[in-house]
Amino acid sequence: MKKNIALFGGTGGLGSQLAKELDSKFNIIPLGSKDVNVQDNEAVSSFFQENEIDIVLNFSGVNYDSFMHKYSNKNLSERDRLIDINIKGTANIVSNSLIKMRDKKYGRIILVSSILAELPVVSTGIYAGCKGFIDSLTKTVAVENATKGITCNSIQLGYFDGGLTYNIPEEFRNGIIKTIPMKRLGKIKELARIIEMLIDVEYITGTNIKVNGGLDF
Ligand SMILES: NC(=O)c1ccc[n+]([C@@H]2O[C@H](COP(=O)([O-])OP(=O)(O)OC[C@H]3O[C@@H](n4cnc5c(N)ncnc54)[C@H](OP(=O)(O)O)[C@@H]3O)[C@@H](O)[C@H]2O)c1
Repeated sequence: MKKNIALFGGTGGLGSQLAKELDSKFNIIPLGSKDVNVQDNEAVSSFFQENEIDIVLNFSGVNYDSFMHKYSNKNLSERDRLIDINIKGTANIVSNSLIKMRDKKYGRIILVSSILAELPVVSTGIYAGCKGFIDSLTKTVAVENATKGITCNSIQLGYFDGGLTYNIPEEFRNGIIKTIPMKRLGKIKELARIIEMLIDVEYITGTNIKVNGGLDF
């Protein structure tokens, strides 16, 4: 029987392509903010009570760029939105998904982080900090559930072909691609293979997997 995947961010640039890639092997439930607002713990809780989910992929997320000294009353709401969706949203998903997974003694939680969690790039501080939270949380969740058949890993994405990458102005984006040793963006097919591996191999848990075309630091 196919396993059920809750794909948060399934309406986004990466998530919608990924849903198609994984569709033949899994029952995918793609979720956007109108289906389940991850900021709303009650909504996330209800979703997991009403659905039997084996695997969680969290591709929800938002970005906003600002130097730290340029945060003021004019844009504090953007900072708070990043924290609410990227940090609290991830915590809501993880906490609520674990309840049935621990009872069933099976689960896979795959969270999406970013190369920016470790690579300092000006104006990305809040986003980078949110992704750092995800990488740390991953490790604790892994050890808390290591004897329960549940694994938790994060994927530290470099620059992929879709979604937020295309929010970067074209000229700057082309400049970034030149700095990637492979001189290209990541492909969704490559991401799908990593996810399948993380689902298949129980012994991988608590890792932050770097998938970035050699763009290291
Ligand atoms: N693209 C890249 O190369 C790249 C690189 C590094 C990391 N990432 C990470 O990969 C993930 C996917 O990015 P993307 O490029 O696909 O971004 P995207 O196209 O902007 O998609 C974002 C997704 O998040 C969902 N979302 C936003 N706010 C939400 C909320 N309050 N509740 C539930 N869902 C919400 C959106 O749903 P709606 O459609 O309903 O708004 C959408 O499905 C993000 O975590 C991002 O940080 C991407």
